[in-house]
Amino acid sequence: MKILVTGGSGYIGSHTSLALLEAGHDVVVVDNLTNSTKTSLDRVQELAGRRLAFHQVDLLDEKGMSAVFEQEQVDAVIHFAGLKAVGESVDKPLYYYHNNVGGTISLLRVMDAHEVRTMVFSSSATVYGASEEVPLIEKMPLDAVNPYGRTKEQIEDILSDVGAADPRWNVALLRYFNPVGAHPSGRIGEDPTGTPNNLLPFVAQVAVGRREKVMVFGNDYPTPDGTGIRDYIHVVDLAAGHLAALEYLARHGGVHRWNLGTGDGSSVLEVLAAFSAAAGHDVPYEFAPRRPGDAAVSYADPSSALADLGWSATRTLDEMCEDHWRWQKDNPQGYASGA
Ligand code: UD1
Repeated sequence: MKILVTGGSGYIGSHTSLALLEAGHDVVVVDNLTNSTKTSLDRVQELAGRRLAFHQVDLLDEKGMSAVFEQEQVDAVIHFAGLKAVGESVDKPLYYYHNNVGGTISLLRVMDAHEVRTMVFSSSATVYGASEEVPLIEKMPLDAVNPYGRTKEQIEDILSDVGAADPRWNVALLRYFNPVGAHPSGRIGEDPTGTPNNLLPFVAQVAVGRREKVMVFGNDYPTPDGTGIRDYIHVVDLAAGHLAALEYLARHGGVHRWNLGTGDGSSVLEVLAAFSAAAGHDVPYEFAPRRPGDAAVSYADPSSALADLGWSATRTLDEMCEDHWRWQKDNPQGYASGA
């Protein structure tokens, strides 16, 4: 198949584009490069030994997107493009709703006009909000607690309505838990702009000497070691989940939702220990107050994805940290490190 990947030069998009190429699909990336660089795609092509097509277009530019659809004749879309910083979304809600929700509506209109009605959407476990019930299962009520999360929830609603109105749409809503790690080659990985918001990229930058120490947000949670528990998932496993969802949509209509997680939780201190072991030296940290809006424990029930897609995550926390570390060590300044 020929797959259009929005946000394909970003962290999860680049790993998924590689997986698509390796599986023999043709890939067309659309990205406005606001939060990523084309270097990731150079490296994806180098790893795959195959070319992909790239168009620097913003999803809100319907004319530009129509031109891409006319030129490329794609079969399906994997939609990653979106803004994703929680704090920034609280400060700039209109920017978030316009880009994420508005950009998706524009994309869906262009897809519909070109009779492309298969979409895999990059949603997030953030749609469950600060649910105290674990594991999280797909049928639980959604209750995102910040504008970023609400854009994901609203896009899920829009796609559900579109699918209900027109049975020709085939849609997968993939709710990612905490994607970490990197391709084992160390050539592609997460390259956050500015101070990382998420744990793993922050830990990696401390380990490589770019930052002094990790602040552990809260050590008084009701968990065995007092720190927050999350379901970290290797980005290569996550990428494979997208291929499994695409294959499913080739055979089934309708709108479907799946958690993509391992089903296991790890605490912040467990992550620090695993990363220190991978890096071969202790990563310094300090306890700090809880971060507002954080749940104590979040992990997936991934059994639906296994039952429906035959997909499950196989990589361990140690592998996630080893691969994340290889990427960070080889590219201390991310893609700006060069070569
Ligand atoms: C965060 C976002 C979520 C988003 C997800 C993926 C918040 C409140 N939630 O989820 O909406 O979908 O990222 O982008 O921002 N931690 C530290 N020190 C740090 C950073 C994190 O101790 O410097 C802790 C957190 O308290 C948490 C765990 O590490 O217990 C994971 O944090 P993070 O990587 O930010 O992911 P989430 O909070 O799960």
